[in-house]
Amino acid sequence: MSKFKVFVTRRLPIALDRLDPIADVEVWSERQPPPDDVLLEKIGAIDGLLCLLTDQIDRHLIEAGTSLKVISQMAVGYDNIDIPTATARHLPVGHTPDVLTDATADFAWTLLMTAARRVVEADRFVRAGQWQTWEPDLLLGANIAGATLGIVGLGRIGQAVARRAKGFDMRILYADRQRLDIEQSLGAECVTFDRLLQESDFVTIHAPLTEDTYHLFSQPQFQCMKRSAILINTARGQIVDSEALYQALKERQIAAAALDVTDPEPIAPQSLLLTLDNLMITPHIASASRPTREKMASMAIANLVAGLRGDRLPHCVNPEVYQ
Ligand code: DGY
Repeated sequence: MSKFKVFVTRRLPIALDRLDPIADVEVWSERQPPPDDVLLEKIGAIDGLLCLLTDQIDRHLIEAGTSLKVISQMAVGYDNIDIPTATARHLPVGHTPDVLTDATADFAWTLLMTAARRVVEADRFVRAGQWQTWEPDLLLGANIAGATLGIVGLGRIGQAVARRAKGFDMRILYADRQRLDIEQSLGAECVTFDRLLQESDFVTIHAPLTEDTYHLFSQPQFQCMKRSAILINTARGQIVDSEALYQALKERQIAAAALDVTDPEPIAPQSLLLTLDNLMITPHIASASRPTREKMASMAIANLVAGLRGDRLPHCVNPEVYQ
């Protein structure tokens, strides 16, 4: 029997030898994602696509994938893939939930604590030779213990963030589409989005990017927030209106922000956001612990293999394709 053909859009952190018995695999080895014309050329001739969140898998690509049996994405989020088109063509799409929950929650906390206590500014200060003595008002930051944490989106990652907050004796508020039973064990209170903005000292975003969450944070929301508030985003950059964030930080409408995701990604080196002292940015690395990325790759391969074999994907974002 001839082997399946697979295209993997970047080098993965694990070996792909599990695929050898069943597939001929081509791996895009450049650092940048394959351009659209390359994807278009490849997709017409493959049975399986293993892609990343940086690959825009639009309708024209999916429709060109006439022999495509599966799209497997190495990420939990899949807003870069046109799911309705894939579903209409009975094409299963896989993703990698759960395995990155703790790493991402840990990183949201890393950003929260680093921003609260101005660690990046402090490091720059020392390296610039400005540390002259102990000063009572040097680099004063915010208290974390006892503060109010507002979680936007109490899914898997939001819940893991809340569990960590309990150890800091925080008051935990959350806003979600619905009230969740888990709130009791987390000690979290469901509030309206506006109330969460008004009362939180830290606001952390854990919602997916959808039409409803696009620019969920813009000028009116920043105006609602405390002037001392700190915003953390490890979800998707487009949930925050970058221009409005720039104004809010510049005019100190909010105290600070820490972003692992930006709009666009990567952020342009000339972006005005990069001129601000009260903003910290990391390059979309919340899930980037080695064991986590290895598990994500392994799960993506498991989804891919299942799809090639015509089996149900272990983690499918559009299970309707099986009905
Ligand atoms: C995801 O998986 O969606 C994250 O953004 C990257 O790990």
